[in-house]
Amino acid sequence: MAKNLSGLPNQDGVPDTDMDAYKQDYEAHRAGISTEECIKYYNRTAEKYEQTFNPDRYQGYVMAADMVKKYTKDDKSIKILDIGAGTGLLGEQLKNRDFTDVDGLEPSSEMLKIATEKGVYQQYYCDTLDGKNVKIPDDRYDVVVSSGAMGEGHIPCNGLCEMIRIVKQGGLAIIVMKEGYLELVMEYKDRLEPFMEELEKSGQWKQLERTVVSNYSFGQNGLIFVYKVLQSGFKPIISKFI
Ligand SMILES: C[S@@+](CC[C@H](N)C(=O)[O-])C[C@H]1O[C@@H](n2cnc3c(N)ncnc32)[C@H](O)[C@@H]1O
Repeated sequence: MAKNLSGLPNQDGVPDTDMDAYKQDYEAHRAGISTEECIKYYNRTAEKYEQTFNPDRYQGYVMAADMVKKYTKDDKSIKILDIGAGTGLLGEQLKNRDFTDVDGLEPSSEMLKIATEKGVYQQYYCDTLDGKNVKIPDDRYDVVVSSGAMGEGHIPCNGLCEMIRIVKQGGLAIIVMKEGYLELVMEYKDRLEPFMEELEKSGQWKQLERTVVSNYSFGQNGLIFVYKVLQSGFKPIISKFI
C-alpha cells in the first residue's frame, strides 16, 4: 500500500486544501476499523458530516440519484431503499428528481436523526447491512441504492445477499463507491467482484453496468455498479467470500 508524507494511504489526487477533511474521512475508513467503531465514529461526527463532505469534495450521492433516474424512466412512485443513508443527502437528491417513496436504512442513530429532520424518507430503519437479515421482508423494493457506504468496516460482501433478498424480481441494486477500495479494503480485495460474479453465475442477478467515474470524492475515482435482480428472495450459496 503506497503511503505518503502524511502517512495516509491512497492520497493520490487529493487537493492540498482538502487534506484535513480527507484525514477525517480516513478515520472512518482506517485499516482494521470494526463496524461498531465505524458507527461510533459517525455518531460522534454526524453534525460535521455535510461540512466535511461538501459538494466540492463528494459527489457520490448525486451520481447514485442520477443512476436511479437513468434506469427507472418515468415511474416516480417506485419503492426505493437508500442503504447507509447517512444524513439523507441521497434522499434529498431522489426527492429533487421527484421520487416519492424512498426509505432509509442507517446504523448510526445520530446520522439518522439528521436525515429524519429533513423528512426525505417515508420509513427509517436504524440497522446495519451485514450477514444477518435486516427487518425488511423479501422482495420489498424496486430499487436499493447505496452511496459511500462501502469501505473498511462498512458494508461487508455478505451485505449483497441482503440487497438481493429485499429487491423484487426484476428490480435493481445500485452501488456507488470509491474505486480504490477494491484494492485497499481487505474485505473487498480479490473478493467483492469475484463474489458479485458468483452471485451472477448462480442466477441471482445480472450486471447492467460497471462504470469508473472521475471526481467521486476528494478528486478520486468512483465505481458504479448496477445489477438487475433476477429472482425472488435470496437463494443461499456456498462461497468462500461470505
Ligand atoms: C460516507 S457515509 C455515506 C452516507 C450517504 N449515503 C451519503 O452518500 O452521504 C457512510 C454511511 O454508511 C453507513 N454504514 C456503515 N456501515 C454500514 C452497514 N454495514 N450497513 C449500512 N450502513 C452502513 C455509515 O453509518 C454512514 O452513515
